[in-house]
Amino acid sequence: MSEIKLKELIKNFGGNSIAVDNLSEVFPDGEFVCLLGPSGCGKTTTLRMIAGLETPDSGEILHGDKIFFSSKTGELVKTENRNLGLMFQSYALWPHMTVYKNIIFGLDMQKKTSEEKEKRYLELEKLFHLENFRDRYPSELSGGQQQRVALARMLAIKPSLLLLDEPLSNLDSSLRLEMRSELKRLHQSIGCTIIFVTHDQMEAMTLATLIAVMNNGKIEQIDKPMEIYNNPKSLFVAKFVGSPQMNIINTDKDKELALCLSNKLNIQKNSVKNFGVRPESIKMVKNNEGDINAIIETIQPTGADWIIGLNIFNKSLFLISSDHPIAKENESVGVIFKSEGCHSFDSQDLRIHKN
Ligand SMILES: Nc1ncnc2c1ncn2[C@@H]1O[C@H](COP(=O)(O)OP(=O)(O)OP(=O)(O)O)[C@@H](O)[C@H]1O
Ligand SMILES: [Mg+2]
Repeated sequence: MSEIKLKELIKNFGGNSIAVDNLSEVFPDGEFVCLLGPSGCGKTTTLRMIAGLETPDSGEILHGDKIFFSSKTGELVKTENRNLGLMFQSYALWPHMTVYKNIIFGLDMQKKTSEEKEKRYLELEKLFHLENFRDRYPSELSGGQQQRVALARMLAIKPSLLLLDEPLSNLDSSLRLEMRSELKRLHQSIGCTIIFVTHDQMEAMTLATLIAVMNNGKIEQIDKPMEIYNNPKSLFVAKFVGSPQMNIINTDKDKELALCLSNKLNIQKNSVKNFGVRPESIKMVKNNEGDINAIIETIQPTGADWIIGLNIFNKSLFLISSDHPIAKENESVGVIFKSEGCHSFDSQDLRIHKN
């Protein structure tokens, strides 16, 4: 097991924008890394280059001290020689093979003995709770069971690196939750490096030990999930992680609100282009008892929490709270900004301040 190192990796498919733009990054050994970002930002292309399914235009990919690809030396290791476990959105099992045959497929390719195959199968059967399914065909399994077989098949050859591209996106929400815990458990028990692509920030927050937020073919920030959430380095990262999204207050367009925040946070407004306030950092109090007054626009109960839409000088903001709302729609309330969830960003959209 060892780290994955990307050096000045470039992939251009010839369109207007570059898919992966001079990417240099290290994914340390044993981490569960989520590549997170909007559609088209280059996540799949990055993963496919690490897998050897796409050849970079230039740069280097290293796994420990093993060179997978180098445009300098011309080295290129084939996918089958990279010792990877791969799983994509369509994880299609072989329909004409039983669960047993599907799982030992890679071992068959490696010409392992019957004893070796049986031993490994029994280990995987136990790990993925697949007892009783040995002789069934994929069509006789539920979606979640099929996914577990696909994971077992991927792990059969004991890969030192797992590459997963949105493998849970075809599942309904309860199965996704189940598979997320399965993957987390798997990572804790086998400890190999996992690179997991998703555009679902919730999935990244719950699964990853490290989140790499991608934008326009580059990684904007790589950090532990809570660090990404609490200390986003840029406006892009701040907006991408969190639901409801961070409220963004522009110092030109939302002057009154920006003035209130700069007074409250004791920051010189001149250097700030945008303030960012997490929804859970806004508290409702009685009218005239807060930093500023607001009108309640909407009240949305989610069960555990309330998402409240507020209007302050024609700017809409969202707050989230587990407290029952103290007023009704169209009524006026006071609002307090808690400084720990307030950020400010400069004209380059980089964070300049956090309390
Ligand atoms: N084979 C290809 N030929 C041409 N352009 C491609 C090819 N594959 C990807 N691209 C382009 O490269 C960019 C990055 O694509 P990529 O598939 O890596 O995005 P992604 O982050 O995985 O997006 P999504 O979340 O939608 O899967 C996109 O602009 C895409 O259109
Ligand atoms: Mg993709």
